[in-house]
Amino acid sequence: MKILAIESSCDETAAAVVEDGRTVLSNCVASQIEMHTIYGGVVPEIASRKHVEAITGLADQALIQAGVTKGELDAVAVTYAPGLIGAVLVGVNFAKGAAMALNLPLIPVHHVRGHIAANYLTYPDLEPPFVCLCVSGGTTAIVDVRSYTQMEVLGGTRDDAAGECFDKVARVLGIGYPGGGPMDRLGRAGNDRRYELPVGHVAGAELDMSFSGLKTASLNLIHNAQQKGEELNLPDFAASFGRAVSDSLVPRVMAAAREKGYGQIAVAGGVAANSRIRADLQAACAASGDKLYLPELKYCGDNAAMIGCQGYYEWKAGHVSGWDLNAYATRDIALG
Ligand code: KG4
Repeated sequence: MKILAIESSCDETAAAVVEDGRTVLSNCVASQIEMHTIYGGVVPEIASRKHVEAITGLADQALIQAGVTKGELDAVAVTYAPGLIGAVLVGVNFAKGAAMALNLPLIPVHHVRGHIAANYLTYPDLEPPFVCLCVSGGTTAIVDVRSYTQMEVLGGTRDDAAGECFDKVARVLGIGYPGGGPMDRLGRAGNDRRYELPVGHVAGAELDMSFSGLKTASLNLIHNAQQKGEELNLPDFAASFGRAVSDSLVPRVMAAAREKGYGQIAVAGGVAANSRIRADLQAACAASGDKLYLPELKYCGDNAAMIGCQGYYEWKAGHVSGWDLNAYATRDIALG
């Protein structure tokens, strides 16, 4: 089954053709990062307009690269939630038009479910159940992936997402947008014990997290140093920050994995590219005996191949939508 998949939830327009869920025939991504860098963050209205400009050409490119004609497609899958509402709407409307014109089923895909499915692309033998740590610019959640389409959030952030925390702190340091990658690279050479930064806890909800305190403490540290004319050691700060984020995430995902007892842990989303988090998870899983799945870096950030993969499993479960499909800025992953 050949699926044309569309993704436009944030600042990447993406189109892909995926066969039977696991074979990526093409994976095209048009990033808008250069445009948003000027503003130090994603400007929603600009994102929507750029998606409109890119999406038709990108879908054509995905078909050409896959060597597949429109007539050979079997379905169209699209991210319909969560994301910037105007941005998601562009993809949803394009997918509706394509599916209607080609007389194909329209498959709605939850963006975070797509991120989780990135693991199936990297590991052909991986099957649920497993526990998945989903960490991106907008999401930080520990998900019980019971089957390809039955999922439950076991814990998550009560405030900021881990990626948003990386981005805000990096912006104040002036080291670029999006800031997760540069912070990660900077921190590799640093001393992670140099600065003491808080790891948030939520009383009575052991699998929940909080990153707003880490963000505030980091910004205060940076501003205090600036006011006193002191030089912050950037590699040491980035390493200490990376340790605080990892110390929030890794023990909790390990606790969730113990609770579920599946013996399999996966990671998903842009922050899953972080070298500190990857190394800490590897060490924790080596100690616990859990098998760890880390998606290839090209599938960690937003892309449409992951949407085509998850779309296949949604279709198999009968999740096909009508022409009244709407876009949502937020939506529970359990609802699909
Ligand atoms: O999954 P993604 O591409 O988009 C969303 O769905 O949000 O994630 C983007 C986020 C950004 O916050 C970016 O700073 C972060 O992923 N990120 C990283 C790294 N690479 C990207 N965060 C930490 N370390 C990295 N190496």
